[in-house]
Amino acid sequence: MLSRLCRSFLQSPSVSSAVRSQSGLAISSQQVFDRESRYGAHNYQPLPVALREGKGVFVWDVEGKRYYDFLSAYSAVNQGHCHPKIVSALQEQAGVLTLTSRAFYAEILGHYEQYITSLFGYDKVLPMNTGVEAGETACKLARKWGYTVKGVPANQAKIIFAEGNFWGRTLAAISTSTDPSSYEGFGPYMPGFEVIPYNDLAALEKSFEDPNVVAFMVEPIQGEAGVVVPDPGYLPGVQQLCSKNNVLFIADEVQTGLSRTGKRLCVDHENVRPDMVLLGKALSGGIFPVSAVLADDDVMLSIKPGEHGSTYGGCPLACKVAIASLEVLEDEKLAEHSQRLGVILREELNKLDKDIVTLVRGKGLLNAIVIRDTEDFDAWKVCLKLRDNGLLAKPTHGDIIRFAPPLVITEEQLHECVGIIKNTIMSFK
Ligand SMILES: Cc1ncc(COP(=O)(O)O)c(C=O)c1O
Repeated sequence: MLSRLCRSFLQSPSVSSAVRSQSGLAISSQQVFDRESRYGAHNYQPLPVALREGKGVFVWDVEGKRYYDFLSAYSAVNQGHCHPKIVSALQEQAGVLTLTSRAFYAEILGHYEQYITSLFGYDKVLPMNTGVEAGETACKLARKWGYTVKGVPANQAKIIFAEGNFWGRTLAAISTSTDPSSYEGFGPYMPGFEVIPYNDLAALEKSFEDPNVVAFMVEPIQGEAGVVVPDPGYLPGVQQLCSKNNVLFIADEVQTGLSRTGKRLCVDHENVRPDMVLLGKALSGGIFPVSAVLADDDVMLSIKPGEHGSTYGGCPLACKVAIASLEVLEDEKLAEHSQRLGVILREELNKLDKDIVTLVRGKGLLNAIVIRDTEDFDAWKVCLKLRDNGLLAKPTHGDIIRFAPPLVITEEQLHECVGIIKNTIMSFK
């Protein structure tokens, strides 16, 4: 099938300039776009660049052109593409034991559980796969805790979310979304959720007047909303209100955690300790989906055997890869590095022409610029030009561009990237 397809590509005139593909046959970027469009669902609109390889901060397209990756797969590749330590952990474990299911004990699972809970200072971990599953797990834990510990009447539990939240694409996750492109056309929606403004402690306090509220789930910085950073004091205020009202504070650190914002967790910036922490993305360094919920016994033990799980969650391969991914962040001091380079990046971005770049915001190496929308340019056009100049970034919400390179980027490389960004912005003058 593949060879028939590739033969037909080979007959097209543009193929001669293309390099060899992984299957040994030449394929051009345009052919990659066309094939995906022909055979894949149209649920994404990728920037037109066809990638084949990645190493550290770089990715290469099928024609061999090199780019700086300034998205890091939405912060999944914090450790850099194909980090050798993580890849070798994967290879080693792949030849030993990959999946047992949770029907049996696996030697490495407890080792991983002990490692991650000691690192983050929680009693227990519940391993899952994708980030959205971590969110679903946290909601189930909160509801169960509400009924069995807090004493909420059956089926009355309510969870509060913030406007602009993003925690994935399942029906529960989109039921809390305030972005029509996420929720429109997919109803009916999950009951028991309420949405209040982000960064608004008064609204949170008001929502807690309902005694059936069991949890508030919030991103310490809203990533998909465009790197929206709340005011200092917001997260400590959330913690205080939650503990005063016997409501669980769930921090969704799927994007902000694991050194991305300049601390191990983003909540560490304000010395806040949530009741539950959600991790995903960089927990596997971009290798495959590995997520986790961290909590103490009073919450975690409210779910009993048979009440929740996943075939692949906590599989030996995931455990080995997650340990290696966390060790890389610690050994290479990527949180400190991200903090230091983030300051330099924002300082430089703030020098950009204010007629075009109206705002710069972020923490560590999770940053965004807001582009003034005019007839001549918008964020998409800027990203296309950045691509032409060798740097990959993706617009969000039409006028925002996120800059979140792998945390292994060197200061010298960062300055080179700042040069690319400056020249690109200047070219729109
Ligand atoms: C804050 C946050 N939570 C959860 C998710 C969902 O993760 P996944 O796509 O792995 O399901 C995302 C994805 O972007 C996210 O940014």
